[in-house]
Amino acid sequence: MANQTALFVALFLLVLVAKHAEARHTRLVPAVFVFGDSTVDVGNNNFLGTRKEGRANFPQYGVDFPTSKPTGRFSNGFNTADQLAQLLGFAMSPPAYLSLTGRKLRSQMFKGINFASGGSGLGDHTGRLVVGEVIPMSLQLEYFATVVEHMCETAGSKKTASLLSRSIFFISVGSNDMFEYSFSRSNDIKFLLGLVASYKYYLKALYHLGARKFSVVSIPPLGCTPSQRLRRLAQMGTQGCFDPLNDLSLRSYPLVAAMLQDLSHELPGMAYSLADAFTMVSFVVANPKTKDWSFTELEAACCGAGPFGASGCNQTVPLCGNRNDHLFWDGNHPTQAVSGIAAQTIFAGNRTFVNPINVIQLAML
Ligand SMILES: *[C@@H]1O[C@H](CO)[C@@H](O)[C@H](O)[C@H]1NC(C)=O
Ligand SMILES: *[C@@H]1O[C@H](CO)[C@@H](O)[C@H](O)[C@H]1NC(C)=O
Repeated sequence: MANQTALFVALFLLVLVAKHAEARHTRLVPAVFVFGDSTVDVGNNNFLGTRKEGRANFPQYGVDFPTSKPTGRFSNGFNTADQLAQLLGFAMSPPAYLSLTGRKLRSQMFKGINFASGGSGLGDHTGRLVVGEVIPMSLQLEYFATVVEHMCETAGSKKTASLLSRSIFFISVGSNDMFEYSFSRSNDIKFLLGLVASYKYYLKALYHLGARKFSVVSIPPLGCTPSQRLRRLAQMGTQGCFDPLNDLSLRSYPLVAAMLQDLSHELPGMAYSLADAFTMVSFVVANPKTKDWSFTELEAACCGAGPFGASGCNQTVPLCGNRNDHLFWDGNHPTQAVSGIAAQTIFAGNRTFVNPINVIQLAML
């Protein structure tokens, strides 16, 4: 009898230990909070008066998403926020803030929320002219502040602060500001310094609300998207990337890197991982075939008509047969395949691509 009890207790303890280990292995962090633009939006714009150019809630978006339904993701499937969240142990990105009401918000907020909005940027006016209503970074922060208030009411400020300090804050923003600036260039240095100053302001605001671990994605080579290749063709009659945008993007990286380093000295306990999107994309373009991936189309969009398939993606335009061999899904956005490589690199990449640490290391701090 005593032996049986001992055996039972041992088994019970074993189950507890296994459960605990499982919980620790399934999620590297308690929550992920996402901010930024269409590269990481999972449906916030569906709830806004945004024009078609700023929406992705119609076919053929989502053709490779589970259930093949359009969700508002600017992708054929999962975007970078989804795939990074998956690597951190979640099913996908946390849901769009505007899709959460009352009770759903209160049950979700401790696991993370996605505030990103396609077409938005660091500037309050970015996106307005091009796509209509968007959630600029300032409003994404206001929404997050409201959520933190709810969290404090529910769990107390100490528990909330502890959870937030261990969570990942994933941010991909700045491309739309740069894109719009490129149509009316005046003073590049002034623009870039202004962009980085407002980035710093919002990161500080997040820190003061409790964020400590920041995963930041730099601006990619915007000039190489199908839409910008078409822009070059139309303006200059030549093939290739639209260089002025790539130059701006390249010049922004050291400024963002220095800003983050300054912040980490200024703000106790602040840690970050900066992913170099320009170098990541350039690496894939220079190595289209490896043991992990195989891209045969690096210039044209999968969903779209006309030169470079840059006309825009909708129900009536042709779709490529194999999404996994295309770098671009539509005129401005990568395929799920490329977002997956980006997520993997942000998560576990070496210092050619992520500095000073990657997201695994950030999560383990
Ligand atoms: C789909 O896009 C094409 C190319 O831009 C456009 O000509 C067509 O009107 C669009 N169709 C719909 C249903 O929006
Ligand atoms: C990082 O990985 C890439 C791709 O495997 C490789 O080319 C590069 O040399 C590595 N960089 C460092 C610093 O290890």
